[in-house]
Amino acid sequence: EKGTYPHYMLKEIDEQPAVMRKIIQAYQDETGKLAIDYNVAEAMNEADRVYIIACGTSYHAGLVGKQLIEKMAKIPVEVHVASEFVYNMPLLSENPLFIFISQSGETADSRAVLVAIKELGYKALTITNAPGSTLSREADYTLLLHAGPEIAVASTKAYTAQIAVLSILANVTAKYREQEMDFNLVKELGIVATAMEALCDSKDQMEDIARDYLSVTRNAFFIGRSMDYFVGLEGALKLKEISYIQAEGFAGGELKHGTIALIEEGTPVIALASQADVNLSIRGNVKEVAARGAYPCIISMKGLETDEDRFVIPEVHELLTPLVSVIPFQLIAYYAALHRECDVDKPRNLAKSVTVE
Ligand code: F6R
Repeated sequence: EKGTYPHYMLKEIDEQPAVMRKIIQAYQDETGKLAIDYNVAEAMNEADRVYIIACGTSYHAGLVGKQLIEKMAKIPVEVHVASEFVYNMPLLSENPLFIFISQSGETADSRAVLVAIKELGYKALTITNAPGSTLSREADYTLLLHAGPEIAVASTKAYTAQIAVLSILANVTAKYREQEMDFNLVKELGIVATAMEALCDSKDQMEDIARDYLSVTRNAFFIGRSMDYFVGLEGALKLKEISYIQAEGFAGGELKHGTIALIEEGTPVIALASQADVNLSIRGNVKEVAARGAYPCIISMKGLETDEDRFVIPEVHELLTPLVSVIPFQLIAYYAALHRECDVDKPRNLAKSVTVE
């Protein structure tokens, strides 16, 4: 039930801090340490390469997951769009482990890959919000998102839940493999939950940004580097889905190789600056587009902010920034859709779960 909320999407955005806390709890053992099914940690440890398979928003979570697994557990990871995998099957490693990320657990494109790799005799782990779903039943292992039902077609809390569960998977695997760990994930995810609350309390500012930048425009660009690039892809997808504004996410450094031709007087360019090591270069990219007439909106992270920034998000661990930086994008998309009088929860042409290939 959406209760006092006008839309499920807004309710589900607001549920994200509680979902973070639920996930921390669900994956803690009696001693308070993060834990997952021993068999999953063992399967991860045995894999010489992990193949993440997903669609849409879940694919975007997978892009972040690759960084988390590679940086913490030191296992190479490839991320693939499910609908392309069977036709463009990469040369597989000796001992692969497949991870399917799917909110619904029913996505036909992902299932087609699961069927194909099971025929080849490989092991699969499904990360899903739906216990008993097809992808969960047909895989060897399941990790649950614990996000509660997601009703709005545009996925929000499932994305952050997927990244949180992937961070736990990466962290527990790292410990299993005796990799050195310089941070306490339980503590850092707690900081994320608190930061998420602050962001959910910043709705008025997000509504202002949406009105200012997106109420009449035909298109919009999201730019970022490293982790921020992946979040930009998700921000663009959210905006496209529910406001029908043509939006694209780009790596800040790639803009000048073509896309910058699309920048005109007043084109909104939303830039994310949450990564210390690329802060100067993304700001350089903002100057490049501003010099060509773009209307830039910089969203930065505390500690990296400058006077030109439109909004500053609270600081969290650099590996976990997507969990918080996506929330302004979700809210901006929501308010842009409201201003343009779109059906937020049931956008045209889309279904909540895509059960055809
Ligand atoms: C975007 C969205 C879709 C889904 C995609 C995969 O807001 O909802 O892009 O993420 O169809 O769905 P699942 O995760 O159920 O496999």
